Amino acid sequence: MFLNKKGKRTNGPWIVLRGNPETSVTVCWTGSKKKESVLLWGESESSLPNRLVSAKNGLHSVTIDNLSPGTGYFYSIQEDLILFGSNKVFKFRTQPEMESDEITEFIVAGDLQPKNSATLETNRVMAQQIHRENPDFIVQTGDLVQIGSQSKYWNFLLQSLPLMASSRPILPVVGNHEYYLYHSTKNFRTFFPYSFPGRKSVYYSKDIGPVHIIFLDSYDDGFAGMSSNTSSKQMEWLTGDLADAEARGAGWIFVILHQSVISNGEYPGDVKLQKLLLPVLAKFNVDAVFWGHAHLYEHWHYQYGKNGYLLNPRDLPGKSPIDFFCIGSSGASLESNYRLFTHKNFKRNKPEWFSVKEGRHRRKTSVQYPWNRKLFLEGITDRHYYHFPFNESGNYSGDSKISYNTENEWFGYQYGENTLHYAKVVIKNNLCTISIHYPDGSLLKGPGDALSQKFYLRKKRG
Ligand SMILES: [Fe+2]
Ligand SMILES: [Fe+2]
Repeated sequence: MFLNKKGKRTNGPWIVLRGNPETSVTVCWTGSKKKESVLLWGESESSLPNRLVSAKNGLHSVTIDNLSPGTGYFYSIQEDLILFGSNKVFKFRTQPEMESDEITEFIVAGDLQPKNSATLETNRVMAQQIHRENPDFIVQTGDLVQIGSQSKYWNFLLQSLPLMASSRPILPVVGNHEYYLYHSTKNFRTFFPYSFPGRKSVYYSKDIGPVHIIFLDSYDDGFAGMSSNTSSKQMEWLTGDLADAEARGAGWIFVILHQSVISNGEYPGDVKLQKLLLPVLAKFNVDAVFWGHAHLYEHWHYQYGKNGYLLNPRDLPGKSPIDFFCIGSSGASLESNYRLFTHKNFKRNKPEWFSVKEGRHRRKTSVQYPWNRKLFLEGITDRHYYHFPFNESGNYSGDSKISYNTENEWFGYQYGENTLHYAKVVIKNNLCTISIHYPDGSLLKGPGDALSQKFYLRKKRG
């Protein structure tokens, strides 16, 4: 399935976390169905005394168990790897023990979707930069490939993914493009062998050090085209998983999904998902939410129900605001290539919100306008179109050429920029820092360097 045309050379490796991240990793690589493949590993680069054999398979994976927490290890695959050649020794590190005082650092990467020479190159550049950041692990917001049913696109992904994921685990969510063309998660499940429920849904969650991360599947309840279709079974699981995480005393809780819950991209926000997710996230004091799908960067700071409106009358308002991020392109063709400036039929959402004061529902029509080409930052090689929705007095602008969505004030929109980017999350005890970076590692700072995209979250719970 994932072999290159010659069918002889192997590609990868990439690491996933099937077991306890303190004591176990799973290494994956492609191979030949006709022969076994061998992985050597050890604690020193010069000596790899342990040998694991993977059976004949188009996709190999071996799990290295009984490791020590917070310890560096080395491994090598006894094959001629397409990206690295023969005898390359890779390094990884297990997660430190939960109680340790060490910093936890992870990268959130956005849509990848290599599909042509330009996006193969942007993916390579981004993967190299994410590797340079040397995070403990990588989270990815879905749409890793252009068409999930075609091996060609998984092989495109393999031209860059191992550059960042051979030295640390990658934890992705499924995107609509992984489901294409036949609404199947088969290849995603094979490529990323996490423990998923059932035969199709690919949601899961992980505790890694002080962090609990939930990975949702936006499309598990039947084909939905460009909008979500989330099963009620998954929502029940989510509520239970969040309750368990809080009961266990998880320090930080993050939710990752592919579908843009709110958006100023080509497609409008997803009202169905807003209705399902916003009340649950608010109830459990989730710290931050990351999604992709729209190929740009956006940030909202929103407290559900604070304005006196709820999606369901029985909901409780959130206790504090949550930061919502669209991390939408760490290699994928930018949103400006998808009608960002030209969608003439302004998108109209008409959700019903329940006014607590009036005790009745109100239909709220929202309108989304195209982006303004005149507002851009001059990048090194291209223009970075930005969206800063405020007027000079610091209020949300009523001018549709400044604020492109009538929902901006409602959802606390802060800033957006049409650029390649990734997020870095650094956790040290009670402080979590989230920062957004360009492909060269520098911080997004907005027009006049006045809008540094760096956010400090203090732990809300004891
Ligand atoms: Fe995408
Ligand atoms: Fe998508």
